[in-house]
Amino acid sequence: MRLKDALNTVLPQGELDMLVGSFDIVGDIAIIIIPPALSVREHLIAKAILNTHKNIKTVARRTGNYGGEFRTIDLTVIGGKDLQETEHWENGVRFFLNPEKVYYSVRSSNERKRIASLVRPGSEALVLFSGIGAFPLVIAANSQAGEIVGIEKNPDAHQYAQKSLAGNRRIKNVVLYEGDVAEVLPRLNRTFDRVLMPLPKTAADYLAIAIAAVRPGGRLHFYDFQTLDALPRSIEKVRCACEDNHRRLAASEVVVCGHCSPQTYRICVDAQIE
Ligand SMILES: C[S@@+](CC[C@H](N)C(=O)[O-])C[C@H]1O[C@@H](n2cnc3c(N)ncnc32)[C@H](O)[C@@H]1O
Repeated sequence: MRLKDALNTVLPQGELDMLVGSFDIVGDIAIIIIPPALSVREHLIAKAILNTHKNIKTVARRTGNYGGEFRTIDLTVIGGKDLQETEHWENGVRFFLNPEKVYYSVRSSNERKRIASLVRPGSEALVLFSGIGAFPLVIAANSQAGEIVGIEKNPDAHQYAQKSLAGNRRIKNVVLYEGDVAEVLPRLNRTFDRVLMPLPKTAADYLAIAIAAVRPGGRLHFYDFQTLDALPRSIEKVRCACEDNHRRLAASEVVVCGHCSPQTYRICVDAQIE
């Protein structure tokens, strides 16, 4: 049942019109955005979600945007159990996470599937800013990649990634490192066929070391926040970083993979680097 239908007899039409009709589901946790004007109704809204979705045990309200170094989000429980670790399936992979302690967005699941579909059999991939291991594990489960390496700084996210890796026993080709990309990546001293940079806010700061890790002819996936009329600017960031590091941007295309504010999109520059 749609949330608005469930609240049809409970809220006046004016309030129903303000309600965002959909919410994210992470395991048994519903995460909803409630406009400030409906704050007084939050417990009613949570009750309606719990009554109509028997698989949901916790309803949490988003009280801020993704922020801080670890890109976590402020959540306030408005119904059901306290926030704790949950088990969530995505693209055939079982993940463990507490959405309060780590970054995870169900809305990027199509993007992860897209990247997995590009990975050639036997090729090696590096995922910088790998979080709970969403990209490495989805690539592993949906391709015939060789080794996939992930690097993540948030200790909680790294621990969940390790737990999810252990919980998906058929995945044997993922290696995860905890630490700052700026420190861990140079120490690896190796190159990859494909390098992913899923940290749209500040990925540009790491372009030089990421490009150095791309084999000649390999692919770089550079994520950025951008307006639709300025997509070439994101390509230019990659082109300039290539030139500064004596490499060449051989080909590029931009994929729009998410919406983050009325004018701004989460985009990915798919680049081939010689
Ligand atoms: C936008 S999240 C993406 C997480 C994951 N790739 C995903 O798609 O679910 C960015 C991640 O980068 C991590 N991070 C931020 N700065 C970092 C750094 N310097 N080195 C390693 N990880 C970093 C954050 O903790 C966060 O988990």
